[in-house]
Amino acid sequence: MKSAAFGIAATALALLSSCRGQPSDQPPVNVVPDMDMQPKFKAQSSNPFFADGRAMRPLVPGVVAVGHLEEDDGMFQGKVDGVWLERPPMTVDEKLLARGEERYNIFCAPCHDKTGSSNGTVIKRGFKPPPPALYEDHGKAMKDGELYAIIANGRGNMPSYRPQIPVADRWAIVTWVRVLQRSQKAKSEDVPAGTQVENATP
Ligand code: HEC
Repeated sequence: MKSAAFGIAATALALLSSCRGQPSDQPPVNVVPDMDMQPKFKAQSSNPFFADGRAMRPLVPGVVAVGHLEEDDGMFQGKVDGVWLERPPMTVDEKLLARGEERYNIFCAPCHDKTGSSNGTVIKRGFKPPPPALYEDHGKAMKDGELYAIIANGRGNMPSYRPQIPVADRWAIVTWVRVLQRSQKAKSEDVPAGTQVENATP
């Protein structure tokens, strides 16, 4: 009896020691094989069940990822029925302007400069052709929705900032571009009465 118990203990020990992670050329022992080896299709593999033979199924037309319905054309495209929005589709307040300034200085200033002169570091280093200053008449005449769309989609050799800048921040930046357009070419009558100061530089 004693030797049988010893035998069992020794076998158990030997079995356990083989589970301790030593390298082995042998395939692992599958105690419950149907859990370890389930029938499945791996990415890019083929599947004769479908007429096109692809295991990976294309998305059904019109499918929308959760949280990406983006029904509001004005908010997401900057235009409704082909007409650019005149103003951002949210309240424009100091908070939005401050956010716009911060985001502009991060994402746009490298090329367009903090003033909007479009002579930022990247341009000085030889980016060709250089972009026009944002406060020239061409940029000034654009509607807010068009400025939004330029950030979202890019234009010419300006890349899209869709992946880096979320929708609300794009609109915030638009308000800051407007600030630059207003301030860089301001006339003295643009300064509210009572707040003008003498220009120190002649
Ligand atoms: C990598 C450099 C680069 C960055 C960064 C960049 N732009 Fe541009 N941008 C350009 C270039 C180049 C053009 C000219 C594109 C064209 O018309 O071919 C341009 C054009 C524009 C125009 C149109 C100006 C006009 O009068 O036609 C606007 C508005 C604008 N950018 C805004 C922005 C804003 C806002 C950001 C930040 C989110 C930004 N850009 C970031 C390079 C850049």
